[in-house]
Amino acid sequence: MTDHKGKLSPLLKQATGITAAKGEGAYIIDPEGRRYLDFTSGIGVTSTGHCHPKVVEAAQKQVATMIHAQATTVMNPRLPELAEKLGALTPDPLNAFFFSNAGTEVAEGAIRLVRQATGRPNVIVFHGGFHGRTMGSLSMTTSSVGLRAGVSPMMGGVVVAPFPHAFHYGWSLDEATDFCLRELDRIFVTYSAPKETAAMLIEPVQGEGGYVPANARFMQGLRERCDKHGIMLVFDEVQAGFGRSGKFWAHEHFGVTPDAIMIAKGLASGFPISALAASEETMAKGWPGSQGGTYGGNAVAAAAAIATIEVIQEEGLVQNADEMGQRLRDNLHALKKDYPDMADVRGMGLMVGVEMRRGDCPDGERAGRILKECEERGLLMLRCGPYQEIVRWLPPLIVTRQQIDEATDIFEQALKATA
Ligand SMILES: Cc1ncc(COP(=O)(O)O)c(C=O)c1O
Repeated sequence: MTDHKGKLSPLLKQATGITAAKGEGAYIIDPEGRRYLDFTSGIGVTSTGHCHPKVVEAAQKQVATMIHAQATTVMNPRLPELAEKLGALTPDPLNAFFFSNAGTEVAEGAIRLVRQATGRPNVIVFHGGFHGRTMGSLSMTTSSVGLRAGVSPMMGGVVVAPFPHAFHYGWSLDEATDFCLRELDRIFVTYSAPKETAAMLIEPVQGEGGYVPANARFMQGLRERCDKHGIMLVFDEVQAGFGRSGKFWAHEHFGVTPDAIMIAKGLASGFPISALAASEETMAKGWPGSQGGTYGGNAVAAAAAIATIEVIQEEGLVQNADEMGQRLRDNLHALKKDYPDMADVRGMGLMVGVEMRRGDCPDGERAGRILKECEERGLLMLRCGPYQEIVRWLPPLIVTRQQIDEATDIFEQALKATA
């Protein structure tokens, strides 16, 4: 007999066994009242912690006033307010914003904009990058074959260039950077001529691919080539942006300004809203009607985003991310001396990865067992990387020194328990 009760798709896989009945700052509380230190932040989203009172108040007030001020039908007063606040944070002249819901939608918006603005077809992306799961953004995603499997053919016009992942190549940073810039030049003469290349699109710190920061010389090399050939440079700051890297934008670490920025995740403390930033002049080169969507720039999400920016500024959360990130990396580097299976500790601010290896082999199985041991001890974390071999640390930006120390203690217990 058919069971008519609705169910969740069996394809939903969850990293933990936890039911989140309540969220409070850096903690998730299950239905039995057990508290878990949440170092996942809902994949880097709850920057101000769970249910920050100021964000809750702003959202509640907006819910009672106007929920769906459909952005291509009427003006939602929260949107120009949010644009004004964001414009004070983005580098000049990137002060025009297209608002949407998810990171992947602003990746799609970026593809449309760079193609329309330049009249060129190709986008160069970087190996190991993650830009989303819809067909355009997925076509630019090379962090794991699992995401791409079974859904080809992909969108055309995507060229994949190497990313300077020195640890992976087993080279110095300079060697990796030289190699990658050389390969980029080779792409221009073998694969995608500059006049056919609309943009280069890159994460300043690779997220899903393994928590790998780019570096200043490489990013400057991209900027020089883009300037020389009239190619747009787009930074995907969906995961690394909004304070997570210890600076407001991750690209500030490299002294390079892009032509467009993709923003999502940390923007509204958990409400779904994303933004594509570019100069007004660049936006105007897109075609009318190419930036829309039913829910994009929802009023409640926009109100929560405004409150989130205020909290980040009032509570000094970017500086906290910098300081707590340093503390976290110091703790992990100290542990690495005693646990050689921690092959690499890397990242910026509160975006830190620990690569687990057995001998020379990436050890996703060990990383998985470590996460389970951490969960049993009240700490939630995630993995990333092509083999799921990287234990990743992305606590909320409100995290305290005591919570960082507690989490690294639990991590050490998990290392011992899984040795
Ligand atoms: C760097 C980066 N870009 C884009 C995305 C896609 O965002 P969303 O899942 O909101 O579509 C993600 C999501 O993890 C991401 O980390």
